[in-house]
Amino acid sequence: MHILNLLLLLPVTLAVATGITKPPKGSVVVDINSSSPNVFKSVQDAVWALPNDTSSQTIFIYPGTYKGQVVLWRPGPTVFQGYTKNIKSQKGNTVLLTNSLVASVAGSNAKSATLQIYSNDTTVYNIDIENSYGTGGAEGSQSQALALCQAGARNGYYSSGFYSFQDTVYTQNGTAFFGNVYIKGAVDYIFGMRGLAYFQDAILASSRAGYITAQGRENSSYFGAYVFDNAKLITVENATDNSMFLGRPWRNHSTVVFKNSDFGNVVDLRGWSIWGSTDPRTDAVYYAEYNNKGASAWNSQRANFSKLIGKEEAEKTWSVENTIGSKKWVDKRFL
Ligand SMILES: *[C@@H]1O[C@H](CO)[C@@H](O)[C@H](O)[C@H]1NC(C)=O
Ligand SMILES: *[C@@H]1O[C@H](CO)[C@@H](O)[C@H](O)[C@H]1NC(C)=O
Ligand SMILES: *[C@@H]1O[C@H](CO)[C@@H](O)[C@H](O)[C@H]1NC(C)=O
Ligand SMILES: *[C@@H]1O[C@H](CO)[C@@H](O)[C@H](O)[C@H]1NC(C)=O
Ligand SMILES: *[C@@H]1O[C@H](CO)[C@@H](O)[C@H](O)[C@H]1NC(C)=O
Ligand SMILES: *[C@@H]1O[C@H](CO)[C@@H](O)[C@H](O)[C@H]1NC(C)=O
Ligand SMILES: *[C@@H]1O[C@H](CO)[C@@H](O)[C@H](O)[C@H]1NC(C)=O
Ligand SMILES: *[C@@H]1O[C@H](CO)[C@@H](O)[C@H](O)[C@H]1NC(C)=O
Repeated sequence: MHILNLLLLLPVTLAVATGITKPPKGSVVVDINSSSPNVFKSVQDAVWALPNDTSSQTIFIYPGTYKGQVVLWRPGPTVFQGYTKNIKSQKGNTVLLTNSLVASVAGSNAKSATLQIYSNDTTVYNIDIENSYGTGGAEGSQSQALALCQAGARNGYYSSGFYSFQDTVYTQNGTAFFGNVYIKGAVDYIFGMRGLAYFQDAILASSRAGYITAQGRENSSYFGAYVFDNAKLITVENATDNSMFLGRPWRNHSTVVFKNSDFGNVVDLRGWSIWGSTDPRTDAVYYAEYNNKGASAWNSQRANFSKLIGKEEAEKTWSVENTIGSKKWVDKRFL
């Protein structure tokens, strides 16, 4: 073939390569609209069908709204792939996992989560996950209702969406990489004590005045930290300008870094909040900002327990490898 023809074919080939619209070879298939006996109508039924061993398995999910919780416990690596025309895009997702359950009824925060991952080496692509419980009505009512409980090592969440009001994403333990995700909430909507998580290119959508993170590292002998790189903060629904805090300390050694991010007008000019008036918990926190932009980025009103850090600390101390141990298991397309 003439070289020119090859060049002309190239853009088409690349465009096609970004979609996953057919089940990868060997995968277990879920399709709410299928009547085939070899296809599952529920994601949890597909999970139960996987072998309880160390083999690698893939679940492919056709478009649809799938109600109920999904809980993964198997020892081997598992991939959840939602039907997509573009693996790099969250906006075009066609698969929604949805459930409505508040923690006070579920019995714990973790048990309220629509998606619960207790396995290592799990990868989730192009799936939106929602806990539709909502605000619980009156101000101050119980509304901890999780979309995700992430409890395992080397787990990756890519081009996926997480939707709730309070406690949307829970990093219970282990290590996680979130690439190109959308996370919506208002109160402590990314939280956890011992989980380490790196968020690359996330959209953080705040729906009412509150706190984006409530990281809860307990003390220096436990790990637990969040790093956000190139995040975009936006307001949706009832959040007004300058109504969000980047974080408040669930425990004394709360550790959060925001770098290279766009804060727009979203953040309260003080940036970070105390836990509560009689229990501020700010003596030992590590709240750091580097190279963020937007009118609500670092300014003279910032809380005195937060700090602006330099490039070395932001990019080396808090590199992907140093935050979550390694980047070998991270999908390179999302780094
Ligand atoms: C698929 O199934 C769902 C739930 O049963 C239904 O609401 C939807 O209309 C179906 N879609 C198609 C394309 O048949
Ligand atoms: C999976 O295997 C482990 C170890 O053999 C066992 O403890 C566990 O109960 C099994 N889980 C299920 C759901 O069968
Ligand atoms: C995940 O790995 C940890 C150790 O790193 C181990 O304790 C745990 O049992 C593993 N989880 C599963 C579900 O195999
Ligand atoms: C994470 O927590 C789960 C229980 O929630 C536990 O089974 C697992 O061993 C823990 N993993 C690590 C890496 O600590
Ligand atoms: C936003 O306000 C509307 C109208 O008061 C209310 O129904 C809705 O629950 C609110 N949403 C949030 C996230 O506060
Ligand atoms: C850290 O916190 C854990 C859990 O509360 C506790 O068991 C441990 O003794 C603490 N370690 C230090 C050094 O304070
Ligand atoms: C948190 O810090 C406060 C103030 O330094 C201290 O009184 C409290 O005991 C600490 N809590 C824990 C769990 O270490
Ligand atoms: C930090 O700011 C608070 C509130 O403005 C103030 O009460 C406190 O004394 C300050 N702490 C230090 C160490 O400057």
